[in-house]
Amino acid sequence: MAAPPLLLLVGALALLAQEQVARCDAAATCVGVAPAKRRPEVVSIADFGGVGDGRTLNTWAFRKAVYRIQHRRRRGGTELRVPAGTWLTGSFNLTSHMTLFIARGAVLKATRDAAGWPLVEPLPSYGRGRELPGPRYASFINGNGLRDVVITDGVDPDSSTNVCIEDSYISTGDDLVAIKSGWDEYGIAYGRPSSGITIRRVRGSSPFSGIAIGSEASGGVRDVLVEDCSIFNSGYGIHIKTNVGRGGYIRNVTVDNVRMSGVRSGVRIAGDVGDHPDGRFSQLAVPTVDAVRIRNVWGVGVQQPGSLEGIRNSPFTRICLSNVKLFGWRSGAAWRCRDVRGGALGVHPSPCAELATSFASAAGSCSY
Ligand SMILES: *[C@@H]1O[C@H](CO)[C@@H](O)[C@H](O)[C@H]1NC(C)=O
Ligand SMILES: *[C@@H]1O[C@H](CO)[C@@H](O)[C@H](O)[C@H]1NC(C)=O
Repeated sequence: MAAPPLLLLVGALALLAQEQVARCDAAATCVGVAPAKRRPEVVSIADFGGVGDGRTLNTWAFRKAVYRIQHRRRRGGTELRVPAGTWLTGSFNLTSHMTLFIARGAVLKATRDAAGWPLVEPLPSYGRGRELPGPRYASFINGNGLRDVVITDGVDPDSSTNVCIEDSYISTGDDLVAIKSGWDEYGIAYGRPSSGITIRRVRGSSPFSGIAIGSEASGGVRDVLVEDCSIFNSGYGIHIKTNVGRGGYIRNVTVDNVRMSGVRSGVRIAGDVGDHPDGRFSQLAVPTVDAVRIRNVWGVGVQQPGSLEGIRNSPFTRICLSNVKLFGWRSGAAWRCRDVRGGALGVHPSPCAELATSFASAAGSCSY
């Protein structure tokens, strides 16, 4: 059996959106993107016996708190506060109409004890467990079929709409943030896109990707804004990935103002990533990737600038890079491109010939 998910530490430096608006008008926050409403009721994890000493296991406190919020169904919802401290816990579920508010100085620390990680049924949009056939380990913090949830910490939005993740420090054994929507024929049949996703002021390191979209994006991913993020000591900085058999689309993605240091590859957009749930996926389920803007990226210690590689006979379109400056690569390291159309302005090292150097040119069509 596979080891429990190695999500060792999801720390948070989060601020309640409204408070931050009051203090700092300049900083955009989740208000207006996701309804970070004031909840009429606020409870603390400490009210449920939680202890933030880094040693006490708080799994039951979280589960009791969520159970209470779910069953009391307070009109306007409930905010569950996690005060400063280190809160060791196993996996727990969220419920609708709740805000999980992680205060400044509060760290949610996942237990390494497998007993804290129940096996659950695979999501219908995945068909089977991601690592093994059959059931899968629950995520650290789960939500399934929920409405009206605000989390002030990192999360993988999967078939989710109007999600905002901001002001988080994330350290994980997987992608820091990955936007997904189901796996191959199961995701196509389930047909629920992820859209209206904002990722802002997220920092962290990962052996895989900083900000990822896909590769399981079979229900479609669109209208994504990633801004003001910082990625260090990671595999890929920005990674948009899909594969033949996935179907679906990745469309209207803006990545703006990202800093990187110590990454293997800065930007990768690829059409050949990830395996399949079983042999029933269709070779005709060719995904599209269109209208991806990547701008104002600054990287140092970047071994390989990146690769933009679409699918044969189904090129990725309107891939637009501007003011992307990556340094530290070995001499001769260059962008790798194929089956991609778009434009590049102010890109260092020089972008590949597949990208037009004028955004207005027909091939570039970056003025969308
Ligand atoms: C959490 O939700 C999953 C379904 O998504 C369910 O199987 C599991 O029993 C729930 N766990 C708790 C503690 O409620
Ligand atoms: C693209 O996504 C942004 C959100 O990031 C949204 O505001 C905008 O309306 C979308 N544009 C189109 C053409 O759908």
